[in-house]
Amino acid sequence: MSPALTDGLGRRHTTLRLSIAERCTLRCRYCMPAEGLAWTPNRDLLTTDELIRLAALFARLGVTTIRLTGGEPLVRPDAVEVVRRIAALGVPRLAMTTNGLALEPQLPALREAGLTALTLSLDTLRADRFRLLTRRDGLDRVLGALAAAVDAGYRIGGPRPLKVNAVVLRGVNDDEVAALAGLALRLPVEVRFIEWMPFAGLGWGRESLVPWTETRAAVEHVHGPLIPREDAPDATAQTFRFSREAPGRVGFIASMTAPFCRGCSRLRIAADGAFSVCLFARESVSLRDALRADATDAEMERLVARALQRKAPAHGGRSVEALAETADAGRAMIAIGG
Ligand code: 5AD
Ligand code: SF4
Repeated sequence: MSPALTDGLGRRHTTLRLSIAERCTLRCRYCMPAEGLAWTPNRDLLTTDELIRLAALFARLGVTTIRLTGGEPLVRPDAVEVVRRIAALGVPRLAMTTNGLALEPQLPALREAGLTALTLSLDTLRADRFRLLTRRDGLDRVLGALAAAVDAGYRIGGPRPLKVNAVVLRGVNDDEVAALAGLALRLPVEVRFIEWMPFAGLGWGRESLVPWTETRAAVEHVHGPLIPREDAPDATAQTFRFSREAPGRVGFIASMTAPFCRGCSRLRIAADGAFSVCLFARESVSLRDALRADATDAEMERLVARALQRKAPAHGGRSVEALAETADAGRAMIAIGG
């Protein structure tokens, strides 16, 4: 790996989250305000050629996983083409995080184009709640997409891993965590429970945060003891298997109560080309502007290296308390690249 991707603490950045569409077809309460965001004009968003140029640059520097995010990545009309062109760069893992609404019809093409991993967002199994949480309809389509992903050969533990992300919100879906974990008893999927993180305009409150230990206890209460997996430790999620035979497993992403910043390996590029070294960083570097000013690869590499040297040890240099207090001051998560 190029030294450009190693920061002052020796963290090696092997994962790039690349937002390919800023907009989303849902309005999840924990992610976006009802009216959406102040969308970037199209001319300021990365073109497909610019996306590929950046993906190629990071692949050459040593990134081994590229995760396509949004907004909702499938809002981009040429998403399949983007997957095909990035896969052709020879990146070992090419993943997508999607809300699943528009996934099913595109799944065969995405797989054929070279998508090697899939993560679906699914926070509830109840249609009324789905509508409340996402402010839209579509639970059936998401569940259909999940089944189709399994049929298409996506499965946790296999060459094309399949995951479900569920953000746990107190008083909203915290009574459903055992039911959601139950998906992993029926399907080869890793169900990952995520602590709600504070971002702009969402009315984040500490009282809505369900600590992962509580979620784990609720899952164990119904499904029995969860056994920590020792093979293949994952820097972000703590993963567990059930004590009985099951096709899937569960994970917990404790961003707030047990931050994993020490093992952070992620970089982000937003749909407008803003490069950030941390989800909570207040600064970003516009790689779009550099590209449009005809920067060479060597110049781009220097920009990236300089940003990484300034990366704070944890949470963009702020305490979890400070993040909670300033929850309404930052950028929305999806504006940063999921
Ligand atoms: N806190 C935690 N996770 C979030 N996501 C979006 N907003 C937040 C937040 N504020 C997660 C969703 C989705 C992914 C794109 O990001 O689970 O799966
Ligand atoms: Fe869209 Fe995902 Fe945000 Fe929901 S969490 S509004 S699906 S980007």
